[in-house]
Amino acid sequence: MAEKIVLDVDTGVDDALAILLALNSPEVEVLACTTVAGNVTVDQTTLNTLMVLEAAGRSDIPVAKGATRPLARRLTTATYFHGPTGLGRVELPAPTISPVEVDGPHMLLNMANRFAGELTVVAVGPLTNLALALLIDPDFGRKLKRLVIMGGAVRTQGNITPVAEANFYNDPEAAQAVLHCGAPITLVGLDVTHQSVIYWNDIAFLDDHLATLSPTGRLSLELLRFYTQCYGATGGAHLHDPLAVGVVLQPDLVTTERMQVDIETHGRLTRGQSVGYSHLNIDLIEDKGDYDDAIGIRVEHPSNAEVCLEVKADEFVQIFRERLGLKV
Ligand code: RIB
Ligand code: CA
Repeated sequence: MAEKIVLDVDTGVDDALAILLALNSPEVEVLACTTVAGNVTVDQTTLNTLMVLEAAGRSDIPVAKGATRPLARRLTTATYFHGPTGLGRVELPAPTISPVEVDGPHMLLNMANRFAGELTVVAVGPLTNLALALLIDPDFGRKLKRLVIMGGAVRTQGNITPVAEANFYNDPEAAQAVLHCGAPITLVGLDVTHQSVIYWNDIAFLDDHLATLSPTGRLSLELLRFYTQCYGATGGAHLHDPLAVGVVLQPDLVTTERMQVDIETHGRLTRGQSVGYSHLNIDLIEDKGDYDDAIGIRVEHPSNAEVCLEVKADEFVQIFRERLGLKV
């Protein structure tokens, strides 16, 4: 039976590609999309999500508009990578559908309650909606079958600062809360998405076969034209959000390590850094009057996430291209 999923998105080029990948994959059933401010404002991510669903012929999927801004920070959008509207240079018809009345956090909660123990949430934007859902119902995470998060950089460099990945940088307080929500979490961070690259040079020939491409293929090609070329001469782009969906479709695409992951919320240089560790050495401190002395050590092995560290990137890119009709 298909895996029931809700996609929490800040649509965005790679979010749009992730949505299309999910819609074209029989392994999953997309129950709803919830939108959040991130790559562009939430009004725009909501519009983009509606337009992408309608272009894909799936206007039956409810879209719930979510958080306007991070919990405690100023929003940082990313139009350099996603274009002024978030969809590169793609212009889609205005949607005939509207967001549903319920907001993003309540949609997440409603789905988690309705499909308790069965629902997978794939979160590929700042985690603000999920953190708000947790504030309303602290058991939200424990009701999920699985939470797959695109975010973080555990053993590699960041992409918005030397140490932080953009989704966690945008809302570090939300990321820290969600990582402790009690859901079985898979973290799909830059450790693996930076290995999952699609090159414009490998798909440019499709321009000569436009008439044979499906509507999804043509839309994906246009999204990728902007997204790959904004990375400069190499013309290669990271498939961040699609890989999070890919991990649900085919879990053996990645190798994971169980770890504790905490997000830096105080650092000046390290805002949003994901700190992953497999054990914690706690010094046992004795007060010696003028100073303290470490007189022993206690070792703990906490863990809250399966962190993806390796990916069969070529295999994933092939699956991505097949499902999105980027082949002739
Ligand atoms: O760091 C990559 C992430 O930031 C992706 O989710 C992309 O869409 C942007 O939001
Ligand atoms: Ca995203």
